[in-house]
Amino acid sequence: MLKTIFKMKKIGVMTSGGDSPGMNACVRAVVRAAQQYNIPTLGICRGYQGLIENDFTALDARSVSGIISKGGTILGTARSKEFMTPEGRKKAYQHLNEQGIDAIVVIGGDGTFTGAKIFMEEHPDIAIVGTPGTIDNDLYGTDYTIGYDTALNTAMEAIDKIRDTANAHNRLFFVEVMGRDAGFIAMRSGIATGAEAILVPEIKTDLEELIADLKRSHEYKTSSCIVVVAEGDDAGNAFNIAAQIKGKIPYEDIRVVVLGHIQRGGSPSCFDRVLASRLGIAAVEALIAKKKGIMLGQNGLKIAEVPFEKAIKHHQKLSSYLRTMMEILTV
Ligand code: F6P
Repeated sequence: MLKTIFKMKKIGVMTSGGDSPGMNACVRAVVRAAQQYNIPTLGICRGYQGLIENDFTALDARSVSGIISKGGTILGTARSKEFMTPEGRKKAYQHLNEQGIDAIVVIGGDGTFTGAKIFMEEHPDIAIVGTPGTIDNDLYGTDYTIGYDTALNTAMEAIDKIRDTANAHNRLFFVEVMGRDAGFIAMRSGIATGAEAILVPEIKTDLEELIADLKRSHEYKTSSCIVVVAEGDDAGNAFNIAAQIKGKIPYEDIRVVVLGHIQRGGSPSCFDRVLASRLGIAAVEALIAKKKGIMLGQNGLKIAEVPFEKAIKHHQKLSSYLRTMMEILTV
């Protein structure tokens, strides 16, 4: 007997907020999974802003060929201020209706899911599900977000290079990595590069302690020193911290490097491509199962379904094993 499935008229797919490597792989998976069920798809350009401005692009199984290895997002992205207003959302709804879209897969982070939640409360006839696209890894309910692994590897390679020059000059470097509210990039890239100290927003930074640690490290290891700083650290950014401790440590030569947006670009890692593809398929299957208002994530090896309000509000905590590793390995 043929199983009858719930079919949407058309699925819109969009990327929103800060881009992350793997977003394209996820778009591709959404389009191809929908095609399996004969559901047409339409690309929404520049996130919610494109929805407001009626900016759509045709997508089909063939047109998404060759994008799995591309960084950035072929759909473009934005942080839309207008979507935060009821007028903006009204325009967006009108354009969805005109296009015959009754379901959306949004790929983004906490701001994206907050927007989706409000929109669905106002327009319950539009089903929205999300996949976590952010390099920050700061969404609750998924072990990894799409783009985090690639960003980590980018940061790791950059810090390894900084280590070479730091060793050559016997210098102390403060390297700032991204992570407004979360220290996941700092923590794992710091551990992977043998950083002498890692400063993250989740752990209060004690500058006196940092100075003592740096002095101790200088006593037995003179070649170089690297402090990885998450951009959201409570003691300030890497420049502020360097200025605060200058003159109190034995290193004469201090340099500051901000890795910045280099961490967001580049071809996605194998891990991110596979994760993004899996979650894209899961998103379409969730819509077919009449689910909405959830983010699809991955917990262990299993797909997780996390209500938007949970994914947004309960930022993933730094695992205690990471803290312990940091304490053992940084000296
Ligand atoms: O949310 C991802 C992120 O890359 C953060 O780590 C960073 O603080 C922020 O985006 C930067 O945003 P923008 O590109 O808008 O300056």
